[in-house]
Amino acid sequence: MTEPMIYIDGDFYAKSQAKISVFDHGFLYGDGLFEGIRAYNGQVFLCREHLDRFYDGANCLLINLPLPKRETRAVLYECLKRNNLKDSYIRLIATRGIGDLGLNPRNCADRASLICIAASITLYPEELYRKGMKIITSAVQRSHPECLNPRVKSLNYLSNIMAKTEAVNNGYEEAVMLNHRGEVAEATGDNIFIVKNGTIKTPPPSAVILEGCTRNCVISLARKAKYELREETLARFDLYTADELFLTGTAAELIPVTACDGRNIGNGKPGPVTLDLLKKFRQFIKTYKDKGV
Ligand SMILES: Cc1ncc(COP(=O)(O)O)c(C=O)c1O
Repeated sequence: MTEPMIYIDGDFYAKSQAKISVFDHGFLYGDGLFEGIRAYNGQVFLCREHLDRFYDGANCLLINLPLPKRETRAVLYECLKRNNLKDSYIRLIATRGIGDLGLNPRNCADRASLICIAASITLYPEELYRKGMKIITSAVQRSHPECLNPRVKSLNYLSNIMAKTEAVNNGYEEAVMLNHRGEVAEATGDNIFIVKNGTIKTPPPSAVILEGCTRNCVISLARKAKYELREETLARFDLYTADELFLTGTAAELIPVTACDGRNIGNGKPGPVTLDLLKKFRQFIKTYKDKGV
């Protein structure tokens, strides 16, 4: 079997040979950022949106990306080609690069390191999309935006991992994190939506969330289908009393949730709005064409 080929700073390496330095500040300090991107049928899905977020994040972190957007996009496609993949989950990573053991970013290379891995993943079994999943709210808060802003998809995912650990250790697939004000923010790797009395609601970016590309895509599909949709602050109470609940993310796509903290959502089955949006989302993917950056 041929090994997956990984892109690191301009070259491709077989998986067993794809290595970064132990002095890389991404490894030492989580000093970097990443994107999780899907490709469907050879098209990089929401390519512009993902690259815009990646470049905005790098700008916030004062990380000097080595390539212009157009060339980074070409790396994504080259990665698919080298790995003979049409449907894939692509991980794009930038680290501040190799430095010394000190924090000072000036002691790192002038340009970031860019890494791209194309793999195949299915996050959840198809059955969960039909039956829905059960989630909990986590004791781990979303970090304060003045500390580590979750709008940047940084390499520091420790609080998400602690919340995910809490979920998994308690027998659940996913956990919802609240922000520093106790409002609903998002799940550990997904955005959250509820449906109440026919209106779809999702927390606004000011609720301290990563503004998901899938979230924004589902918002526009819902509005196009004439659903009433509001970005609104949500409390745990709103989750418990929702008629429907679902999560969106690149890896999970759109997945129904049927219970939260032991409370059934609606009748405990995926609801009609969720299933309709799931259908519309899957149709959208099928005909999607990447128009470039
Ligand atoms: C914390 C968090 N929220 C939301 C999302 C969903 O974002 P997207 O739809 O862009 O994958 C992700 C995944 O990237 C995430 O890590």
